[in-house]
Amino acid sequence: PASDTSLQKMLPFKFGGAVNINLLRTNTKYADVAKHEYNSITAENAMKFGALHPQENTYNWTDADYLVNFAQTNGAKRVHGHTLIWHQSLPSWVTNYSGDSAAFENIMKTHIQTVVTRFKGKVTSWDVVNEAFEDSGVLRNSIWRQKLGDDYIARCFQYANQADPDAILFYNDYGHEYSSAKRTAITNMITDFKNRGIPIHGTGMQFHMTVTQSDANISTAINAAAATGLKVHIAELDIRLNNDKVQGLTFTTAMATQQAAKYGYVVKTFNAIPAAQKYGITTWNVGDADSWVPGWLGAPDWPLPFDAVYKRKPAYYSIINAV
Ligand code: XIL
Repeated sequence: PASDTSLQKMLPFKFGGAVNINLLRTNTKYADVAKHEYNSITAENAMKFGALHPQENTYNWTDADYLVNFAQTNGAKRVHGHTLIWHQSLPSWVTNYSGDSAAFENIMKTHIQTVVTRFKGKVTSWDVVNEAFEDSGVLRNSIWRQKLGDDYIARCFQYANQADPDAILFYNDYGHEYSSAKRTAITNMITDFKNRGIPIHGTGMQFHMTVTQSDANISTAINAAAATGLKVHIAELDIRLNNDKVQGLTFTTAMATQQAAKYGYVVKTFNAIPAAQKYGITTWNVGDADSWVPGWLGAPDWPLPFDAVYKRKPAYYSIINAV
């Protein structure tokens, strides 16, 4: 491809990455990839509850503002907000809260509305609720559900919509590609929300997946998401190679080829859904050395389209060639 090739130029939908704000600030190569390749951007951690709202009356906007400014000054990239309500990344003032359920509801509402209002007109879309279901399809018994009941999810969407009626609101989760029970539970929730007039506009599928995931499962997940009629965001894509956690494994040409084929299949299948529903694809970080996967797996891995020195991998070319 020509030297001015980039994902944002070659793909007929938005493509981006989750970024680490410290790397964005300090690593020129990292920032250059984000600038050149992406037209959508997500904060890997900087917009999570614990990062933005460490004390009840303290909000920390510095990193999130840096990201929004980066996006605005480098070609008006779309910013996708991740995430308002989740069971992780909660500060201890929330997890240890001793007040009653009305007071806890107010914490949830105030957090959502303060954050959404702060970024109104700057953050296009939000993962309003993240990972509320178990793989079995039951609601996760998070602190939010324990204190506020099963319908807290619907109220989160209403609160976000009140704060910014133009924001595109997503429910985000993982496992659509391997758990039909979870996929069905999410689809049923979306149908229920539509029937009740709860403002939901998109479904985010994380797609942290193993390279051995079948094409059939990937296609079932993408098409089921599209069948909801909502926008579809492949929101946290990475394709790991070492699901067996082999210590001391090294990255081979054969692995690169297999991974490239899987990236290509995801992109091709996504690109086949109706244009109005293609919200975009976001990889979870930029280069292999930046990925959360090795830490999470406890083993070496190379799950992203750029290598540790931000060179394009076979996966990169496979993404471009899939459309
Ligand atoms: C992960 C980040 O990548 C890590 O840096 C952090 O320590 C924990 O969270 N699903 C999500 C993301 O929705 O927010 C998670 O991000 C990865 C799994």
